[in-house]
Amino acid sequence: MVHLYRTFEGHDVVALRGVDLTILPGERIAFLGPSGSGKSTLLTLLGGIQKPSAGRIFLGEEEISRMGERYLSRVRARRVSTMLQGATRNLLPYATARQNIGFSRLGMEPSLRREAMADRDLLSRVGLEAQADQIVSTMSGGQRQRLALACAVATGPQLLLADEPTSQLSHEDRDHVLELIHGLGDELGTTVVVVTHQPEVAETFPRTVTMKGGRVGAEGRDGSEYVVIGAEGVLHLPSHYVAEWPQGTLVRIEPEGFERLVLSRPGGTEGAGDR
Ligand SMILES: Nc1ncnc2c1ncn2[C@@H]1O[C@H](COP(=O)(O)OP(=O)(O)OP(=O)(O)O)[C@@H](O)[C@H]1O
Ligand SMILES: [Mg+2]
Repeated sequence: MVHLYRTFEGHDVVALRGVDLTILPGERIAFLGPSGSGKSTLLTLLGGIQKPSAGRIFLGEEEISRMGERYLSRVRARRVSTMLQGATRNLLPYATARQNIGFSRLGMEPSLRREAMADRDLLSRVGLEAQADQIVSTMSGGQRQRLALACAVATGPQLLLADEPTSQLSHEDRDHVLELIHGLGDELGTTVVVVTHQPEVAETFPRTVTMKGGRVGAEGRDGSEYVVIGAEGVLHLPSHYVAEWPQGTLVRIEPEGFERLVLSRPGGTEGAGDR
């Protein structure tokens, strides 16, 4: 996928420069990376909220990047929930917590709606039982964030996309929210993608995807970190090497056996930390 935004001045901002990613059903992934690296953009494309400027996105067999708006809104109402960055954008400010949950369930099939978790249970899972009838605009930032997540999971989605769901929460509330997210994965097999800046949050996910300058720079699987070779063989040097191996450095890459490539710069001496 490639995604550009056009600014008011008419410039193009390249937010995604070529992302190629497969997410398996039931996987739980944390997206990491510096501000502006394209995390939120990627999430909204996966959620069918925007269409990529180029490239294709499949949800199972269906190509959501080509779906018409009508079909897409049904997918969003029933199968894929996206919690956008900044909780308030996901909520009706003049309505109560319970009304917001009801609103997010409007597009569900009636039979599924009857089987869904009761409002009260859902609110207590995010620690908002006492706020059920409170109006959103009078809630604290952390309460709104928890409510936005409750609304996102209220439809029992197959795919949950949540952008910074724990950024404003206390440790205790953060743990509650993570419990709810992982509980959904355990109980319903929901595929979960979360954007986070918090290492403690990322740690609870078996797979991490680190974005860098609009590309996937690195991935972590079960605690090991990998650099990902991108389109046309592009490779991101891990950031702790960048100071010593700055942009423009000429390097030689040579194979060593089948599983190793050795990176060296002219003038370096064997084994002196320059490999
Ligand atoms: N609506 C928009 N119009 C123009 N440029 C945009 C728009 N949304 C995002 N961008 C630009 O696209 C790039 C990627 O933005 P994005 O919001 O995806 O980053 P992010 O990784 O989520 O950052 P953060 O961690 O700060 O939330 C940035 O350069 C940003 O300025
Ligand atoms: Mg963002």
